[in-house]
Amino acid sequence: MEGIWKKKDLLSLYDLSPEEITYILDTAEEFKKVSQRKVKKVPALRGKTVVNLFVEPSTRTRMSFELAEQRLSADIINISAETSSLKKGETLLDTAKNIEALQVDLIVIRHSAAGAPNFLAKRLKAGILNAGDGSHSHPTQALLDIFTIREKKGKIKGLNVSIVGDILHSRVARSNIWGLLKLGANVTIAGPSTLVPREFTQIGVRVCDNLRDALEGADVINLLRIQHERQQASYFPSISEYTNIFGLNKESMRYVKPDALIMHPGPINRGVELDSSIADGPQSVILEQVTNGLAIRMAALFLVAGCLKGRDTSQ
Ligand code: CP
Repeated sequence: MEGIWKKKDLLSLYDLSPEEITYILDTAEEFKKVSQRKVKKVPALRGKTVVNLFVEPSTRTRMSFELAEQRLSADIINISAETSSLKKGETLLDTAKNIEALQVDLIVIRHSAAGAPNFLAKRLKAGILNAGDGSHSHPTQALLDIFTIREKKGKIKGLNVSIVGDILHSRVARSNIWGLLKLGANVTIAGPSTLVPREFTQIGVRVCDNLRDALEGADVINLLRIQHERQQASYFPSISEYTNIFGLNKESMRYVKPDALIMHPGPINRGVELDSSIADGPQSVILEQVTNGLAIRMAALFLVAGCLKGRDTSQ
């Protein structure tokens, strides 16, 4: 497995082999130990500069990337859309080229436009890490989800993983589906038929029309919020109807195995897709996902930075 990572960018799990995904997970296991030490810092990215370019809101991913960079001893610049010249009409490429002109090594980008990280990766020498692009991809979220499942269940292959909610608009769902299928899990998706594309059956995903079918037999249940900000139309009659039919609550928990993991990428709409008692209950691993996200992002930054060596900005 030594030296298996050869990519200067992390854009999507679709692009990765099962071996590359496993390599990131294994690397993250080592980095998780760093955060459990008294001194939570290593010099792995000392002398490297990372720009966090967030053109769409974020709490978890942004904090996690920034802390991961600090723990790796990188120099960090944070840019948000609201306070940058993007607001004055500068193009994303011009902004990124100005960033690169400062000999920046890595750019972590979140953008509402699907494909924005791929667009920059083709045009810049800096390594690009996708922190979420539109409804397309959120690779580090899926990696941290898969890491958490592997940590708790000891394997991925053969597990039944159900993803419930707004699949249509979810980059988290797409990234999880690719990663989990590559590692041999059985993936089920469920939600209102308007929000669950049937096309996923063509890649081996089971599509359920009702929550009970998705919950029974599941080893992992990953709940997604309804993404109003990406919806152009009304996909179901009302929030209360969604909650009644697809919400995970005390009643629907009757169908959930006692050892099933309850996951959510956040932010949670408490009382909509998930009751507070379950979000905070014994089967929930939601905050452990956040903890593991730090290790995954340390691993991703470290591996991608390692592939910039041949074309170091110092040369
Ligand atoms: N899970 C996730 O991407 O959360 P943020 O939007 O807060 O980063």
